[in-house]
Amino acid sequence: MKEMPIKKIEASEIFDSRGNPTVKVDVILEDDTIGTSMVPSGASTGAYEAVELRDGDYQIFNGLGVKKAVDNVNKKIAKNLIGENVYNQVLIDEKMIDIDGTENKSKLGANAILGTSLAVARAASNSLKIPLYRYIGGISGNSIPIPMMNILNGGKHSSNNLNIQEFMIVPVGADDFKSSMQMCVEIYQVLKEILKQKGLSISVGDEGGFAPDLESDEEAIKIILDAIDMAGLKKDKDVKIALDVASSEMRDAAKKIQKEGYYFWKTDEYKNKDDMIDYIVKLSEKYPILSIEDGLAEEDWKDWKELTNKIGKKIYLVGDDLFVTNRKRLEKGIENKVANAILIKPNQIGTLTETLETIKIANKNGYKVIVSHRSGETEDTFIADLSVAVNSSYVKMGAPCRSERVAKYNRLLEIEKDI
Ligand code: PGA
Ligand code: ZN
Repeated sequence: MKEMPIKKIEASEIFDSRGNPTVKVDVILEDDTIGTSMVPSGASTGAYEAVELRDGDYQIFNGLGVKKAVDNVNKKIAKNLIGENVYNQVLIDEKMIDIDGTENKSKLGANAILGTSLAVARAASNSLKIPLYRYIGGISGNSIPIPMMNILNGGKHSSNNLNIQEFMIVPVGADDFKSSMQMCVEIYQVLKEILKQKGLSISVGDEGGFAPDLESDEEAIKIILDAIDMAGLKKDKDVKIALDVASSEMRDAAKKIQKEGYYFWKTDEYKNKDDMIDYIVKLSEKYPILSIEDGLAEEDWKDWKELTNKIGKKIYLVGDDLFVTNRKRLEKGIENKVANAILIKPNQIGTLTETLETIKIANKNGYKVIVSHRSGETEDTFIADLSVAVNSSYVKMGAPCRSERVAKYNRLLEIEKDI
């Protein structure tokens, strides 16, 4: 195998799209090639995600500083990886997992480990002078995913009254990525006009979708369907709806008031487990829905199974907080026939190698793969290349608004031209 030793690894504290500190890593090779990565950060994080190491000093950045994680890269990780062959991604990732030594990467921090892991891959592709998607995917990584574009924001990503976290449009009828972008962007602009005409807010949430107060979550779906119509497109045939309920947040809210089930804190409504399953099933029957993510909470395997039995043949049931890009949790899902699709967020698991492993298992078992950003993002477009490398069916990258989102769509446009 070709050799190119790592000469230097340098991390620093930068800021994400919410103005919170995050980790940037530069990996420098013997030939002076540099590979850079910037780590994203979630707001509605799953309980079983790898640990994002934060300083916890409330005098500085409200405890959210990442100086410890940066230090871990610059000292512990660098010491062990300098001299390593950059093309040896698996060995490098395994080494970091070993140095950390914990199940959830809590010692070094998943932010420290992932930042290094992705920067190593980028440095390798830069030094070979081939695009990142080609380096990761080889000649088989060559299809551009369909966007699940989040155009109305609710839940923890906004301060409006919508409970469901993400209302997305999916241009299933588009012939290629460029036209799928055109469809989505035109719907987004029409939606803006509809909201303006109704005298509603057009300010945006964390992922760039509009975040108005509406009468109900169902009204949000109806307004989007109107926008699809008014953009001259056919709902269902051209464009379907995808939802991320992010219901583990509603479970957490219920726990806070000593209840089981789901508490919709924004509208002060309570649903027990059966109500919640009914609610999800009804939504899937009433509207042209392609997929529902985290319709139930991350620990409710039994209810998830019931939901999968009920509508798993009709729509994609996507596990985000449920699977957290973790192969063990996905395998449990496969074994118990729970869900039929998985959200892939590299920072939930902490290395590129483990991310690819989880995707492989999903593909082998017929689970749809959706590569995803986080609500706190940076200008790093790594996930665009990753989605092409692994031929993922769909991607979640937010609205066509806010450059940390748009940069990723623009990267996909560039890749489409390339291949
Ligand atoms: P997060 O949200 O990045 O805030 O976790 C994204 C999602 O739930 O899909
Ligand atoms: Zn989610």
